[in-house]
Amino acid sequence: MTENKHIAEVQVESTRFILTDTDMEHRQTEAPPSYDSVVNQNTAPPLYPSLQTLSANQILPYHIPQPIPQTPAPRAAETIPSQRRQGLCRSKRCCYGGSSGATVVVMLVVIAIWLGVRYGPTLWALSKSTKETDTCPPSSVDCDGKRDCSQGSDESRCVRFGTANELQVMTFKSSVFLPVCAQGWNKNIADQTCQQLGFRQHHEYGFLLTNSSSFQSMNSQFTNTIQGSVNRSTSCPGQQAVSLHCSKCGKPPVSTRIIGGSVAADGQWPWQASLHFQGYHTCGGTLLAPDFIITAAHCFPKETRDSQMPSNWKVYIGLVSQLRLPSPYYVHKIILHENYDPATKNNDIALLKLNKPASNVQPICLPVFGQKFSPAQQCWTTGFGLTRQEADSISTSLMEVKVDLIDLSVCNSHTVYHGSITENMQCAGDLRGGKDSCQGDSGGPLVCKADDQWYLTGVTSWGDGCGKQNRPGVYSNVGRLLMWIYGKMQQERP
Ligand code: ARG
Repeated sequence: MTENKHIAEVQVESTRFILTDTDMEHRQTEAPPSYDSVVNQNTAPPLYPSLQTLSANQILPYHIPQPIPQTPAPRAAETIPSQRRQGLCRSKRCCYGGSSGATVVVMLVVIAIWLGVRYGPTLWALSKSTKETDTCPPSSVDCDGKRDCSQGSDESRCVRFGTANELQVMTFKSSVFLPVCAQGWNKNIADQTCQQLGFRQHHEYGFLLTNSSSFQSMNSQFTNTIQGSVNRSTSCPGQQAVSLHCSKCGKPPVSTRIIGGSVAADGQWPWQASLHFQGYHTCGGTLLAPDFIITAAHCFPKETRDSQMPSNWKVYIGLVSQLRLPSPYYVHKIILHENYDPATKNNDIALLKLNKPASNVQPICLPVFGQKFSPAQQCWTTGFGLTRQEADSISTSLMEVKVDLIDLSVCNSHTVYHGSITENMQCAGDLRGGKDSCQGDSGGPLVCKADDQWYLTGVTSWGDGCGKQNRPGVYSNVGRLLMWIYGKMQQERP
């Protein structure tokens, strides 16, 4: 978080450093320190997302993941005696028999075991997390209430919320989203619908007067999914449609903040999460539902060893200081957007499924389908990131800054980001400079207030420097990525 005002910065144990070019050269020419000497010390952690200088006319999202120094893994081929590799071995004894042969076999077994222990969990985690491919049989039918695809993608995009949280369902018979008629609706169906969407239960429901001429009407009972439990109809008594809320969200218990300051008050942003990688704050995140945190995909770079392994992460929720950490949640699964592009930062979004539901913390509200946020709205971004671009440590206190939403066309203009902003991104900040998120804020929230509630508008993604004139912060556009978010929450529902 950077702001015009000077913000006092406190040095913490968990500091992160930006590497200079000289550091980089140094790293490349010298043998890396051993893994343990790096991860076990209480010294500065290995650097994570960092800065790269950009030439004036080539403004691209940047992020240099810093690999964690590692002990080079022994390469199996090099452990085979050179005689055999070069085909010089003539006698049977030389190659397969006698003590040297036995030693080779033992060594190979040891290496195989070592590789299994060292990389097995990573490979397992990778196969379990991230980019699973969904296989769908040719006979697969979308939204018929029967799961055909291996990951269930045929049934995970059939429900959405419209204005005033109107529940809208699509079925295989109607390939449009239609409101659900209130007739026959009850608490039990509300719970089951919210559970289908990845929530634990419903928060509240109500009925809305609608002028729609087509509806989804409830069958006599709920079978597995809401789309499998409705039928299209043209009449609905009293034109009453269901409005459903799956969580109490976006209403912080505290709504005052330190006047003129930028340190967030406790309780002001209860959905804020701090994601610790191997013990250090690395990215921000936002609580969406008791079991799900939303964050940025670039927080899990392939190049950073083990960053995609759930067991390396701890999630702290609702905290305002890195010096007073609540008990952590652990990550059950890391779900990255399949089309995240590290080069352009398009689709920079990820979900973390927690090992158990978060309690005593309030989630943020997701925007409803088609909800527009305008530059006139009140929007804020929060995080534990750097408070000055040159700072060498994250902030121990949760910082907040008010930002303006910036139109795509303005943000893409040649004086700003010159065409690098996609539809899936949202710029926010102040074109005069000074108000911005920064390194360490990534994955955290950009929230805007509408009808007395806070909605997640963006996820902190990238920027050219921090707080510079004509270089606002760039956030993943949550409204555009809603279907992916709900789809994954459904596929991974607790
Ligand atoms: N990529 C950064 C991170 O990993 C976030 C950068 C946001 N930059 C900005 N100018 N708003 O923490």
